[in-house]
Parts: sequence; structure tokens; C-alpha cells
Amino acid sequence: MDKIPRHIAIIMDGNGRWAKKQGKRRIVGHNRGAKTVREIVEEAARKDIEFLTLFAFSTENWNRPKDEVNLLMKLLVSSLKKEFLRLIQNNIKMRSVGNLDSLPQLVKEELLFVIEKTKNNKGMVLTLALNYGGKEEIVEAVKCISNKVKNSIISPEKVDESTINEHLYSQNLPPVDLLIRTSGEKRISNFLLWHIAYAELYFTKTLWPDFTKEDLQNAILNYGKRERRFGKTSEQVTF
Ligand code: IPE
Ligand code: IPE
Ligand code: MG
Repeated sequence: MDKIPRHIAIIMDGNGRWAKKQGKRRIVGHNRGAKTVREIVEEAARKDIEFLTLFAFSTENWNRPKDEVNLLMKLLVSSLKKEFLRLIQNNIKMRSVGNLDSLPQLVKEELLFVIEKTKNNKGMVLTLALNYGGKEEIVEAVKCISNKVKNSIISPEKVDESTINEHLYSQNLPPVDLLIRTSGEKRISNFLLWHIAYAELYFTKTLWPDFTKEDLQNAILNYGKRERRFGKTSEQVTF
């Protein structure tokens, strides 16, 4: 049996280019991208992936034209409403990482509603990275830890990796095993900086709206063939 990643994270990129290729508006690509999200979430759950984390909106994406940002926020609300029952049927537990406070009220409400309603589900944990920035996440954790040090709740000598882990947005999110980015770009774009320290990276030219179950399967198969050494020698990990 090939190895299956416990935690897959995806930078879902290329919606705009997908639309442009067909002479359509960028939002058409985002709509198609939402359809891919549904298919990939259900496929990952079927494959018994424990954690799937999707990059839906970065802290940098606020710099896009206002119209596109507004349409993306609307799409988020309608997708959450539409997909909610399917999440329940598939026993998926929804969570989020990112700064929810500066999201439009409707998005925040809908997201918190779905998180609440799925919190007792025991299947795959689906984490939506929304208004998420990896650097911002670390800054917030450092602020919180510094305050606790100042108030003598934590002693500075005791600060270690688990202290940082516990103060991230994503407290119980395990390290990423496989990071997938679609659309041919080979960069991290400020996603999950802490959690990808030892992730296997998989880049595909396929644009997100064209990404299929078979593409997910290929990424997982490719992951299964890699030797994860974590600093050791090949002999140490093979025997
Ligand atoms: C990813 O597709 C979706 C979001 C970032 C919200 P893009 O919108 O970045 O598509 P491209 O990269 O412009 O093709
Ligand atoms: C990263 O994609 C963010 C999401 C997929 C939500 P971008 O399209 O925003 O990244 P850059 O700007 O190409 O690095
Ligand atoms: Mg992009």
C-alpha cells in the first residue's frame, strides 16, 4: 500500500486565467472553481484523508479590484449555504484559519454557522483559509505569547515549538504532508508557513477549475513514491 498523506493543503490557483482563456469574466472562473472545490472535498473524504486545508482568500487578495473582492465574498456565502448539507451527509467537520473579524458580516455569520453545525462530525476536517496570511498568523501568535510572558503566565525559557503551535489560528492543525498548487505558479504566496516546514510540494500546470479527482489521485500517488527523510539518511528511514 502506498503512503497516504494525512494532511493535504491546496493553493487553488488559476480561476482568473481559466476564465480569460475562454474570453469570460474572472468571476466565471471563480464560479467554476467552486464546483471543483465540491468535487475535491468529497473525493478527499472518500479517500480517507484526515485533514484538507484549502486556501480560499489571502490577506493579500484584498488588493484586488473591489468588484472582484465583493463577488468572491458573495460566492463564499452562497457556496457555504449550498454545500452545508453535503458536508453533513459526508460527515465532514468544517473549520477555518485566518482573521475572521475583518470579513464581511454575512461571510462570518455563514461560516460560523457551518462550523457550529458540523463540529460533532467525525470524518475529514476541512479547513478553509479565509483572510489568511502565514506571516500574520505568526505575528498574532508572537503577540499573544509576549503578553503571556509579560504577565508571567509563560516563562520565556519554556517557549518551544508547541507553544507556538498552540497560539496559531489553527491550534490543532497537524503539519502539512502534501501541499498542492495548481496553475503552474511555483510559490507559497504566504500560505501556512509554519505548517509546511516539511511538506512535500506538488505543482501542476492544471488550472484549478480543470483540476479533477484523477489529478488529486495523481498528486497522492506521486506523494506515495517520495522518501521523506526528515534529516535522516535513506538507510535510516528504509530499514
Ligand atoms: C485563485 O485564482 C482564486 C483566488 C485567489 C481567490 P486566481 O483568481 O488567483 O486566478 P489567476 O491566478 O488570476 O488565474
Ligand atoms: C494565492 O493565490 C491565494 C489563494 C489561492 C486564495 P494568488 O493568485 O492570490 O497568489 P499570487 O498573487 O499569484 O502569489
Ligand atoms: Mg492567482
